[in-house]
Amino acid sequence: MNPLHLRSAGTSLVISTHRGEAEIVHWGADLGDTLPDLSLLNEPIPPSSIDANVPTGLLPQASSAWQGRPGLRGHRITDGVAGLDFSVRLSAVSADADGRTAVVIQTDPDAGITVASHLTLHPGGLLELRHELTNHGTSPFHVDELATMLPVAPDAVELLDLTGRWCRERHPQRRAIQQGTWVRTGRHGRTGHDSSLLLAAGTAGFGNRHGKVWATHLAWSGNHEQFADRLADGRTVLGGSELLGPAEVVLQPGETYQTPTLFAAYSDRGLDGISEAFYSWFRSRPHHVSGPRPVVLNTWEAVYFDHNLETLVELAESAADLGVERFVLDDGWFRGRRDDHAGLGDWYVDGTLWPGGLTPLIEAVTSRGMDFGLWVEPEMVNLDSDIAREHPEWIVRPAARSPKDGGRLPLEWRHQHVIDLVNPAAWQYVFDRIDALLRDNNISYLKWDQNRDLLEHGHAGRASVHQQTLAAYRLFDALRAAHPSVEIESCSSGGARVDLGILERTDRIWASDCNDALERQTIQRWTGMVVPPELVGAHIGPSTSHTTARTHDLSFRAITALFGHFGMEWDVRTVTGAERQELKRFIALYKEHRELIHSGRMVRADVPDESLMVHGVVAADHDGGAADSATAALFAVVRTRTGFAEMPGRVAIPGLEAGRNYRVELLFPRPADADYGHAFMEAQPAPWLASGAQASGRFLGEVGLPMPVLQPEHAILLRVTAL
Ligand code: DGJ
Repeated sequence: MNPLHLRSAGTSLVISTHRGEAEIVHWGADLGDTLPDLSLLNEPIPPSSIDANVPTGLLPQASSAWQGRPGLRGHRITDGVAGLDFSVRLSAVSADADGRTAVVIQTDPDAGITVASHLTLHPGGLLELRHELTNHGTSPFHVDELATMLPVAPDAVELLDLTGRWCRERHPQRRAIQQGTWVRTGRHGRTGHDSSLLLAAGTAGFGNRHGKVWATHLAWSGNHEQFADRLADGRTVLGGSELLGPAEVVLQPGETYQTPTLFAAYSDRGLDGISEAFYSWFRSRPHHVSGPRPVVLNTWEAVYFDHNLETLVELAESAADLGVERFVLDDGWFRGRRDDHAGLGDWYVDGTLWPGGLTPLIEAVTSRGMDFGLWVEPEMVNLDSDIAREHPEWIVRPAARSPKDGGRLPLEWRHQHVIDLVNPAAWQYVFDRIDALLRDNNISYLKWDQNRDLLEHGHAGRASVHQQTLAAYRLFDALRAAHPSVEIESCSSGGARVDLGILERTDRIWASDCNDALERQTIQRWTGMVVPPELVGAHIGPSTSHTTARTHDLSFRAITALFGHFGMEWDVRTVTGAERQELKRFIALYKEHRELIHSGRMVRADVPDESLMVHGVVAADHDGGAADSATAALFAVVRTRTGFAEMPGRVAIPGLEAGRNYRVELLFPRPADADYGHAFMEAQPAPWLASGAQASGRFLGEVGLPMPVLQPEHAILLRVTAL
């Protein structure tokens, strides 16, 4: 078998079988058309070690002396004897590539195990890898772990991953890669607020636009682990796997287990290159959102549970006047839901609150030219609900015994429990209710929430996060198939279900319940590493944030929301006078530039002063004439706190064509705006700010422009046009 060599967008992946087992010889820079005889890469055998070369297996295994985390952990139970076939010796029987896709089949006939590995290197350089393990034996095989792993080059010496909590999702943490394993574990039964959207290894000091970076993402919305493993022999792998509970996956003869997909990207130009690979893949999907992303008004922070037709119609009128295009009715509309203690599971419109159903509100919304969206939380149930009283056996619990028979329930979380979607009757009930709502009402959009971790999550007395996750995916898929024009947002107490597994079946994510623009700058910057802005909900909240009590100017809040799927979460009836006019300007500005923001390249400057962030979007078609009259790029300059120097100095405006000339001008705030006075702290502003600056892309990228002395927690917006 010849080596497999997949190439695209500056990336090569080489898989060789010259030692019997499939091994990853290289994942990184493009190696060109021809490869040498790969046996030249056989390693020396160090003293006091196994008497053989140890390959970096596509599925690393102890049988070839891999001493890092193994690709497969499992065992067979035959005639009541457990622990058999605990170590397999897989060797390749076929390795075929068809364009950018490869399938490698490895088997161990003695152990009765076959693993098919599927790899695709997409045109933008994003790699997909998953394994499928089939039990060919005659007895059940317990899969404890099947991991997807990729090696990184020895010059990868630093690691970056993300962590967080409610209202502070996806914040970075960095460390040196040292010998041992760095594991990020998610036991939330959902993706988790602290889940690392990305695990990246890179060369020393890698940044936004410099350094080599290798990054992985695990597309899974249940329990999982992501890890970086540096072995005693000096090799490093990045990987991820589903975290399985005891006997959660037991394969009967002939059955197959499939891993979640590991997505991976390599960049020789820092983290921006990683984002490019992910964005290019997202945007190439046939079901990727298309057309202008509508301006949203979500009712949550405007009215919370205080639902009342008159108030909501007023809110809809006010929203329409501002230019809102989608009105989303959040939690509180269904039977018995006056607060968060009751009602989940009873997916019927509350007749007391809504005697005429939702139709009067929906008509008030749609007659004003807006779409109507509705909040649901289909996977959850309150004990205080008709459905929980009728079907207590549908509530998830650790033991087989139903609550009716004294079975123990897991601890409550926001007064709620999980409905057992693995139970076909429960799944069908939930499907039927949401399906009926969508059929009976003119609903264009679902905000699909999931507000608790899945603890002690069992079905029929056995751990079942694996099955629940797949059942939830089936629910999304079935509802999408039945209502293909309805958009779905993935929300989970803010941003606790953000991963490419859920994004395969949804159209946007709610990045966080925190609408504080300062917090959002970080949350959105790191969410945007992987997820393009057209899929990231970003709303302007009230001037004083409900979750942090910080107060910010409208321009800071709006410039922050602009670089996402823009909307508001605010009682806009209270916005009057000059503030209302300014809000209208921002809405118009979003509409004018959304096509650029939602199709362009995300660019983040490397700024030594950490109190300053400069990020923007450069038009995708910006390769000559096409961008002549249009905006070539929009940049935000954001001051998060006071800087260490008197002046921020020159900061690069990167990502533009080196050989073209551009004009950079201040788009917001303008001198006449109230926010202008608040934003700057200068005796004399840099002169270019008033007149605009003209320079080549090379000059702007290399030398940059002197940045204004911005006040902390303020931002300005720059427009770049091609000359
Ligand atoms: C949590 C979500 O993140 C919020 O946006 C809101 O929808 C509430 N749930 C409603 O209960």
